[in-house]
Amino acid sequence: MTRHLLTIDALSRDELLEVLDLATAPLDATLYEDEPVALVFEHPSLRTRAAATVAVHQLGGWPVEFTGEEIGLDARESAEDVARTLAETFAVAALRVRRHAVLERIRAATEGRLALVNLLSDAAHPTQGVADVLTIAEAHAGGDVRALAGLRVGYVGDATNVTRSLAVALARLGARVVVAAPPGYQLGPGGPEDPLALGDALSLVSDPREAARGADVLYTDTWVSMGEEAETRRRRADLAAYRVDEALVELASERCVVLHCLPAHRGEEVTDAVLDGERSRVWRQVFHRRTAMLGVLAWLKGGV
Ligand code: CP
Ligand code: NVA
Repeated sequence: MTRHLLTIDALSRDELLEVLDLATAPLDATLYEDEPVALVFEHPSLRTRAAATVAVHQLGGWPVEFTGEEIGLDARESAEDVARTLAETFAVAALRVRRHAVLERIRAATEGRLALVNLLSDAAHPTQGVADVLTIAEAHAGGDVRALAGLRVGYVGDATNVTRSLAVALARLGARVVVAAPPGYQLGPGGPEDPLALGDALSLVSDPREAARGADVLYTDTWVSMGEEAETRRRRADLAAYRVDEALVELASERCVVLHCLPAHRGEEVTDAVLDGERSRVWRQVFHRRTAMLGVLAWLKGGV
């Protein structure tokens, strides 16, 4: 059966653990031997593109990259016809798309013929979530992803695609997540990556100090996600009280580490002092983007 990673929510706890285990297992450089893998980017990317490109090479395959402009999903031709075309040449496609629904349409148009990876959509960023779990486990549990139960993770700022995948992944593994966001920027129920469906692992608050207090991990993301640029002025004003600064980090546990998926907007959602400070693990997080991608690509192959 063809495997996909479109959301963390679609994975059971055991499947998520399988991906995480494969990420840190010795890599099999023949797994994708001579196999082309399509990488499609409708939005810009540095980390995800680097991680995916290098991981495909490390597994013996070769990536073929397309930008949104070249492919023209629903512009030059329908997303379904793009999908059918890709399926004639590729067995695996990883895509960064503006709208998550496009991934579902691509899956429906190619069912069983094209394994899909979501490299970020407006709803989810599952490969980031896998990397985040690896980074948190390394910081707090000697790398043991089964030992995160009871860990407290505070998220501060705009609740984004990244927040959703992070919260679902952590809830699967028994951690507690507190998300602090102002009205209009908080997580809402529903959608394909819905942490609110996971019960009391998640608390939603409006005071950033409540998320930070006692946190073992403090996490933030940009206030203006890709595609929201027209709202920049309003978002900066609405989220100004949700900056992760040294005073907020002071409230966290002594062993707290600070994470950010990046790109960061220094002085907006996070200060230089925090991002460059001793608690920051953001560069290790970047390192684990590739670790995570190796696990995801191996898992698509059935874990063999
Ligand atoms: N975190 C992340 O996905 O970075 P890029 O947008 O640079 O890929
Ligand atoms: N929430 C951000 C994440 C970037 C990696 C965005 O969607 O732009």
